[in-house]
Amino acid sequence: MNKIPSHIAIIMDGNGRWAKERGLKRTMGHAEKIIKDADDLGVKYLTVYAFSTENWSRPEDEISLLMQLLDKYLRKCEKMSIKHNFRARVIGDRTALSDSLNRVIDSLEETSRDFTGLNLLIAINYGGRNEIVRGIRKISKRIQSGEITPGDIDEKCLSDALDTADVPDPDLVIRTRGEQRLSNFLLWQLAYAEMYFTDVYWPDFDRGQLEKAIEFYGSRDRKFGNVAEDKI
Ligand code: IPE
Ligand code: IPE
Ligand code: MG
Repeated sequence: MNKIPSHIAIIMDGNGRWAKERGLKRTMGHAEKIIKDADDLGVKYLTVYAFSTENWSRPEDEISLLMQLLDKYLRKCEKMSIKHNFRARVIGDRTALSDSLNRVIDSLEETSRDFTGLNLLIAINYGGRNEIVRGIRKISKRIQSGEITPGDIDEKCLSDALDTADVPDPDLVIRTRGEQRLSNFLLWQLAYAEMYFTDVYWPDFDRGQLEKAIEFYGSRDRKFGNVAEDKI
């Protein structure tokens, strides 16, 4: 394997169906293990979709279970970040999250801030449209204060106003368990990502599955609007 995506984004889907079909309680899957696997394989940025702005429409007891699982996951991530030297941050609108979850996030981000290994982005109460709206509000404030004019708005200006400001766009997006849609994930950033869909449930997505996705990525010809590489 020689072509490794620098940034992989994952829509971790199929946790509910996995648990239901087995009569088990739902989990976050091996969401921590995949960080180490990605790091071992040479991935520099990993973004995982954990809770969307649309997920608030689920039943209340499911939301509260998901929040508990997230709490547990973030605490595990903090311990793992120390062991494996990775930096973690949360993207999305944190204002709707509980104070206690926000404290766990602060602690994780604070602990791992200076770690130099893989960059982990965890999307919680994240929606691509919501992120763009928040970004436009930031830009509007800069215009209102006279710092910039409308003519200064370009693609970089908007990119810089998003939660992923200093992060390169994903090269590969993976969605587990059959659905072939983005569900409001990284709408701006995925403009040129390769897309990999698998029927595997998220809890069954292991290192072998990740290697398969990377192999798929290696077989793609990324043209970015240009002609194929062998024709240049
Ligand atoms: C994805 O798993 C994780 C979250 C939305 C939090 P789902 O809960 O959507 O799993 P399925 O799609 O019901 O199987
Ligand atoms: C997308 O999965 C969100 C996360 C994985 C966090 P969903 O299961 O919520 O998406 P839909 O409802 O099938 O589009
Ligand atoms: Mg789902």
